[in-house]
Amino acid sequence: MTLPARVFKNPRARHNFKGRTCSIVSVGSYIPDRVLSNADLEKMVDTTDEWILTRTGIKERRIAAQHQATSDLAAKAARAALERAHISPNEIDLIILATITPDMPFPSTACLVQEKIGAKKAAAFDIQAACSGFIFALEIGQQFIMSRTCDTILVIGAEKLSSIVNWTDRNTCVLFGDGAGAAILRYRPNAHGLLTACMGSDGARAGLLCLPGGGSAFPASHETVASGLHFLRMDGREAYKNAVTAMYTAAREALRRCELDISQIHCIIPHQANRRIIDTVAQRLGAKPEQLFVNLETRGNTSAASVAIALDEAVRGKRIQRGDLVLLIVFGAGLTWGAAVIEW
Ligand code: ACO
Repeated sequence: MTLPARVFKNPRARHNFKGRTCSIVSVGSYIPDRVLSNADLEKMVDTTDEWILTRTGIKERRIAAQHQATSDLAAKAARAALERAHISPNEIDLIILATITPDMPFPSTACLVQEKIGAKKAAAFDIQAACSGFIFALEIGQQFIMSRTCDTILVIGAEKLSSIVNWTDRNTCVLFGDGAGAAILRYRPNAHGLLTACMGSDGARAGLLCLPGGGSAFPASHETVASGLHFLRMDGREAYKNAVTAMYTAAREALRRCELDISQIHCIIPHQANRRIIDTVAQRLGAKPEQLFVNLETRGNTSAASVAIALDEAVRGKRIQRGDLVLLIVFGAGLTWGAAVIEW
């Protein structure tokens, strides 16, 4: 395999790499119609537009309709990505869907999406790495392309977080939104595509962000419902501190592997959780504000869908052109974190 010379090093090329490279050949996203503004939240909990905006950078978020499940949002994003690339659902070999709000504990939401989009020959499964899920799913998908096991893979990050948010808890309900983003992975000749993806986890801090009820530890009961164990819980301050360190460290490691300086990155897409986290990480990395893509103001934190939606919006808004270097940075419950460098 001969690849064009570039300013960076492709870490995949080590050890006489004979596999194929893996590119994102198309992206798509879907966000629900209903807008929930900070002014709306002022009527629901003891908060203010000013507090939410200054502490988080969020002005509004989208909320899925009652009849829409995560698989519905995911299927819409997937169809958008397929249509844009003129790829038929029948060509998909594998669907990997990242979510913390599956339609139900089983079967997987990926299987429900397979049926909804008519991807008859695809195998399908979910992964769970909370807000880091999209990068984890990209990295898994890449292995199947590189090893020639699959030719076309649909990776989706999708969430209906409004279904697990406690709408009486001002500490969390102002932060989250619903939506889905999708990417199609394929080998693209003469392209480096996904250059590297760093992933990390720290189960010792699992309690910082969790939804305790409904699993095997605390099966659903009157008591779990009465104690609010089926709602998302978060220690915001601790999550914040860990997010800054983990995102910075992951981004540095991804850049180091590719022998890239931050100034060579055309577009940085961080997990959209909090504007202050994004700005602190960018500042520590030495990035310029114009390198950042942020849609947090209107989307809120959509967990696994966050960077997937932002990537689609950046591509459609022409912030990313073919050949550009893109840095994705994520952080979420687990704890989990990661960063990926992509030659678009
Ligand atoms: N409106 C008004 N006041 C509020 C609100 C609100 N919506 N929420 C909290 N407050 C109050 C608190 O009660 C507290 O009051 P007190 O000082 O009297 O106790 C005060 O505001 C400050 O609270 P902090 O928690 O210190 O506020 P902070 O500046 O840390 O911001 C936030 C909170 C926005 C949650 C921030 O900590 C954050 O973004 N954390 C990281 C979130 C994150 O990245 N999560 C990971 C991904 S999510 C996932 O994986 C599912």
